[in-house]
Amino acid sequence: MTVHTRREGTTGYVELDTPPVNAIGPGIRKGLLDAVAWAEAEGLDRVILSGRGRMFSAGADIRNFGAPLPEPYLPDVLNRIERSPVPWIAAAHGAALGGGLELMLACRYRIAAPDTRLGLPEVSIGVISGAGGTQRLPRLVGLEKALELVPTGRAVTAEEARAIGLIDEVDADPVAFAELTNAEWLGMKVPVSELNSGELPSEVFEAARRAAEADMPGQIAPQRAIDLIEVSQHMPFDDGLIQERAAFLDLGHSAQSKALNHVFFAERAARAPERFENTPRPGLDRVAVLGAGAFGSAVAFALLMAGVPVTLVKTGDEPPCSAATGIDRQFDLALRQGRLSEETAAARRAALTLAGDMAGAGPVPLAIDTAEGGGDRAGLLSALPPGAVFATTALHEIDRLARRAPDPGRVVGVHLCAPDQPPGLLEIVPGMATSGPARATAFDLAGTLGLIPVLSQLPGHAIGRRLLSRYAEAAETVLMDGSTPWEVDEAMVTFGFAMGPFEAQDISGLDLAHAERRLQDATRDPNRRYIPVADRMVDLGKLGRKTGAGWYRYPGGGGKVDDPIVADLALEEARYAKVERCDYTAEEIRHRLLLALINEAADILYEGVAASATDVDLITVFGQGFPRWRGGVMHYADTLGPAKVLDGLRTLAAEDPLVWKPSPLIKDCAVRGLSFADWRR
Ligand code: COA
Repeated sequence: MTVHTRREGTTGYVELDTPPVNAIGPGIRKGLLDAVAWAEAEGLDRVILSGRGRMFSAGADIRNFGAPLPEPYLPDVLNRIERSPVPWIAAAHGAALGGGLELMLACRYRIAAPDTRLGLPEVSIGVISGAGGTQRLPRLVGLEKALELVPTGRAVTAEEARAIGLIDEVDADPVAFAELTNAEWLGMKVPVSELNSGELPSEVFEAARRAAEADMPGQIAPQRAIDLIEVSQHMPFDDGLIQERAAFLDLGHSAQSKALNHVFFAERAARAPERFENTPRPGLDRVAVLGAGAFGSAVAFALLMAGVPVTLVKTGDEPPCSAATGIDRQFDLALRQGRLSEETAAARRAALTLAGDMAGAGPVPLAIDTAEGGGDRAGLLSALPPGAVFATTALHEIDRLARRAPDPGRVVGVHLCAPDQPPGLLEIVPGMATSGPARATAFDLAGTLGLIPVLSQLPGHAIGRRLLSRYAEAAETVLMDGSTPWEVDEAMVTFGFAMGPFEAQDISGLDLAHAERRLQDATRDPNRRYIPVADRMVDLGKLGRKTGAGWYRYPGGGGKVDDPIVADLALEEARYAKVERCDYTAEEIRHRLLLALINEAADILYEGVAASATDVDLITVFGQGFPRWRGGVMHYADTLGPAKVLDGLRTLAAEDPLVWKPSPLIKDCAVRGLSFADWRR
């Protein structure tokens, strides 16, 4: 049973029941239609609709997207509810998203518990609402609010929902509140589809289209959502509904929707708690962050925001009190952004303590080593509290550190991307001796911070760093052979990357990439072409944003400005190496950089460093700004197909057989007719 009905007096109770999120599939649609007929046949004077379990409803069942939908269709079911002589009241809790909110919009009265999140997040999975969301929402909250919410997919709290007129009441017990409503008065309320959405000039919609393109470049669904909201101001409701449905079905089959669905489910599979269910480990009731530099402060702030007490331990010259001041500033910003209340901010801020050394941290289950430039890690390890896991960001020396630890099993590598801006990424890189509990603790850290965990399968091998290193090499080769950093960045941003490789390196610091190259010196094939431009930049002290200049200049600490000196430097190196430069088009730049990434990702998979193509996708989307709507590098490669990828690599290999040597995995997929996603050894 997916929809339960019962009557008490003249009130009917209808409950959605498809755990865990009451996703709306054919069973619920049919159950709701039957419930409308039942309420009318029983002569009830109102129906109270609620959801069993954690929430009201997370909307249409995403697992069915792209497949033919059996009748009855949701828009028809909702019209039937809205037009029934028996008024329906929605009593929501937890979440009312997508079809869940559309269901509420078809009811005459809407009540939500204070914990409820309400929104139409469909654009985040590449579609738009398909059951009246784009037509009813503007009629209820006005065109301007609809333009703010639908194309962004932003959900609102129950309080905000009431303030904008999306719901009528907020109450801790929405069903009990619904029982108090006057049935006669409910019957007189005008259905949402009959309200007037008002009118806005076309320039407002044009501005919304530009804003959506700036925020979600390349994505189709937000643009279609805006078109449909515009339609709602003049077109009769039923005609608008037909247009909306056509757009919904069309987008449901789009490559963007497939890619976004892939990421949605991959993200959830990566977080699945069952992965370490049977591994005992202590809870993260306090964490020591070793290193009070910029990165240590960011990790400490993220933990405090997540409600975990932190001891910040000094490891080098950096004074922990300046890190504490930086953390204060971050709390101030979070307060101004309304991300937490003053009371919560004060409590979380008070959970930070400073220590001059490891011993001062006291007993902690986890110490995160963020020490920049080495620090005295041996000293830290020898003072590690008994049982504590040592999670180090020094991925190249996990095993060396493990040898110095009282228990080598407790040392694990972690690569954290955007720890203070979830959902970022946490790559778990085990060493030879890393124990199950140490891996599980790193997994818990990801959960605590809201980061996506990905586990490298080969001790000491980091997936993200290796991909970035190849990507940087390809970008710098293009730079030396004919382009400028801004041309390369622009080409990749047009593809959908959050930013180009040169701007990204300016943020992380050119010294970091330089250190990585020095680590590779010993193992680099001497016959492989080496691009020296980045080394020259480091020699000149151009380390990125922190020094005011890197691949770009940052006058006065402000925004980036193209730097002709960098273009000249590349030209000089090219002349010196007798490189014949060429003028790459944006398409050629993208072709080279993307093939480099795909080829490296394929090798990583072939060598067993990554467990699956999906894991590589997660790393590129959540750790490297690869466009989510392209599904990650391997999903994107599958849209090209292994044969085309192989072809492209073979053509480039004529130029440089070593650098562009196709991965055996790509050849294997092309020969066996397999997709990258399906490839198994
Ligand atoms: N359809 C089908 N399954 C869904 C779903 C949906 N609309 N929403 C969530 N699920 C599944 C998840 O895949 C997960 O399944 P799993 O346990 O097999 O991995 C399970 O429900 C729990 O979801 P999860 O995201 O892990 O729970 P949460 O409490 O962290 O978040 C939501 C709950 C509802 C906020 C979140 O799942 C969400 O945003 N869902 C999508 C909402 C949406 O886009 N609706 C519009 C659909 S058109």
